[in-house]
Amino acid sequence: MNINIKRFNKQNHENQITSTFSISKTNLLQALTEIKNTSDASLTFRCGCKSGVCGSCAVRVNGVEVLACKTVLIENDLIEPLKNREVIKDLVVDVSHETLLIKNSNAFLKDNSELEISQNDVKLIDTQSNCILCNACYSSCPVYEVNKEFLGPFALTRALRYANDKKVLDNAAIIDSIQDKGIWDCTLCSACTFVCPQGIDPKADILQLQNISVQKGYENPNFSNFNSGMDFGMQDMGFDPNAGF
Ligand code: FES
Repeated sequence: MNINIKRFNKQNHENQITSTFSISKTNLLQALTEIKNTSDASLTFRCGCKSGVCGSCAVRVNGVEVLACKTVLIENDLIEPLKNREVIKDLVVDVSHETLLIKNSNAFLKDNSELEISQNDVKLIDTQSNCILCNACYSSCPVYEVNKEFLGPFALTRALRYANDKKVLDNAAIIDSIQDKGIWDCTLCSACTFVCPQGIDPKADILQLQNISVQKGYENPNFSNFNSGMDFGMQDMGFDPNAGF
């Protein structure tokens, strides 16, 4: 079987090229290892657990984000690095931006709370805790593609995880920090939900964060802008919404 791999080397300032390799393995990670061991030792990719746990092997196959260790290949598949991150070499991208996104969303445990929590409390945050930081969601996100300051799917899912964590005594800082460039910037397109290998639904998490925010008195800025636009338009037409009938 033949597969095609996008190649790039930041150090050499080369243009991205596509190389075709003949392989005998059908598992993508095993095929990449086969190529490295038998035909091109310079091929660069990431892997760790080899069993879908560490998230380090995420790439795109025919434009869709997948874990290489969990993907079965077919003839002529095109393997590319994740989108929306700087490519360092071949299938390896720079993921250092993650730390900043977590910091900006305040999505971490600050105080070492001694509070005991129940099994039901754990269930509340169980799904979001399964994130393996593979970055597939950021690669698929059309908002992140045009705005690298957008907190994005993983940071917002993580924000919900800590906002719902009973050990977090006051989640006000988390909810406050996801208003700007966060929950209201999401277009709810579901691209992140579609590619998450852990079955996490960041779109649903973002909707839940929007509900929590409204309950805490925050407003959807898009809705406020829409309202003022309507007011302006109607007054412009000689209609005073406060005049009564
Ligand atoms: Fe760990 Fe694929 S190598 S998830």
